[in-house]
Amino acid sequence: MAFIGFDVYGTLVDPLGMEGPLRAHVGELALRFATTWRQHQLDSCFRRALMRRYANFDVVTRDALHFTARMLGVTLSGAAEDELLSAYLELPAFPDARAGLVALEADGHALVAFSNGVEASLRKLLSQARLLPPLAGVVSVDDVRSYKPDPAVYLHLLTRGGAPADDTWLVSANAWDVLGAKSAGLRAAWVRRQSQTPWEGWGIAEPDLVVASLGELISRIPGS
Ligand code: LAC
Repeated sequence: MAFIGFDVYGTLVDPLGMEGPLRAHVGELALRFATTWRQHQLDSCFRRALMRRYANFDVVTRDALHFTARMLGVTLSGAAEDELLSAYLELPAFPDARAGLVALEADGHALVAFSNGVEASLRKLLSQARLLPPLAGVVSVDDVRSYKPDPAVYLHLLTRGGAPADDTWLVSANAWDVLGAKSAGLRAAWVRRQSQTPWEGWGIAEPDLVVASLGELISRIPGS
């Protein structure tokens, strides 16, 4: 059976679910705010990893919140910021997440979350979303103080799983994450949530599987 690491933000839970909590603070700007916040959070991770200036994902998320507010000309009180960062620990699961994980677990695979997030925050988030269990645990990049798609973090997943690379999978809706895992020698499934999004592999690799939702992974990830 396979050892499968699931990306969290964008794959199991929806960061754009912040639109709801943001509405009370920024009104009509809520969706734009949520999108900019998420994009800037990711850009900051990429840059910090390249610069070898690691700070954990909670710090990055708070910094990206401040930047987004300044960029959109919004003033948030300290209490509003705290409220929004608490809401980040209660992001909604995608509708296919729980059923997909339950079915894969029943198939005998070992399932963990594998994320840029900090373990304590991920445990809160995934517990309230009723995804931990079926996920058996959490593997965080925080252990190696770098970010996806640094090969070091995928090798950390491989080490933590203890399975051969051929039986170690990443499942992610983030195409760049899938390419990172493939480039590091793992197997990877791309959850293409938007059917119009093209694959961008730069000739390095293709995903082993492409599915539209987590439910489609059942019976497609081989055991050994
Ligand atoms: C994660 C980011 C990439 O969960 O969304 O690792």
